[in-house]
Amino acid sequence: MPSVPVARTVRALRRAVAAWRAAGERIALVPTMGALHDGHLSLVRLGRRRAERVVVSIFVNPTQFGPNEDLSKYPRTFREDRAKLSGLADLIFAPSVEEMYPAGFATTVSLAGPAAVGLEDRFRPGHFAGVATVVSKLLIQAMPDVAAFGEKDYQQLKVVERMVDDLSLPVSIMAGATVREPDGLAMSSRNRYLSGEERAQAALIFRTLADCAADIGAGAPLSGALGRGKRRLSQAGFQVDYLEARDADTLAPPADDQTKLRILVAARLGATRLIDNVAAERPRVSEP
Ligand code: PAF
Repeated sequence: MPSVPVARTVRALRRAVAAWRAAGERIALVPTMGALHDGHLSLVRLGRRRAERVVVSIFVNPTQFGPNEDLSKYPRTFREDRAKLSGLADLIFAPSVEEMYPAGFATTVSLAGPAAVGLEDRFRPGHFAGVATVVSKLLIQAMPDVAAFGEKDYQQLKVVERMVDDLSLPVSIMAGATVREPDGLAMSSRNRYLSGEERAQAALIFRTLADCAADIGAGAPLSGALGRGKRRLSQAGFQVDYLEARDADTLAPPADDQTKLRILVAARLGATRLIDNVAAERPRVSEP
């Protein structure tokens, strides 16, 4: 199988995209930071179902990492990533930091409103401004018809959907279901930081989310179900940043009659911070 071609500059990316467009082909973009796993590859396959050409961007975006986060040790595995994309993607866009943020760069895209405020934003201030800035740049650079994002980063997905609507960007956003290990742990590039013992423990995150969703589905009050979930994780040695239920569409705190919810969690296990989320459906309150 031939290696996937690589564009290192916006100019080279646009040249490839323009040639496909001239041939009447549609383009899908899958933005990633590399260290690809089956979750990313499922997004590439999703893109392929909606477009003749798939571009995967690989760029570890410095502006979405806080000062005490893992930017310098974030896994960079370009050769392996390129091999994994062979036969799946048509082009890898892998710009340098200077290509994306040239000297004098001074623009930030940032969001207010429930999608971007609270949850991750409380623990990673500035993170979503970094994500929104780089994603808007990637969308403007590639001008794809569709772009795919994973539900694993559910708040990020909602931030991107909001931004695309607000800025009238001509792209449709596709959401890919979270891909899980056999024990339920959501696939993530950061799972490789876990020790053997932590890896075995980490599956409790999904079991806890699934049990919360089942309790809420059976009519348990949110506070009770979420409180039990938090205690279970804390007792097992997790440091829980949040375990919350939100309106599944807007991520606002849910109104009493809101039935479609999303339960989102972030918890630390040793030095590794894990996030995950599941859908939950609250029974409709019947009229008296
Ligand atoms: O989800 C990610 O890998 C990143 O946040 C993204 C969307 C590629 C932006 O850097």
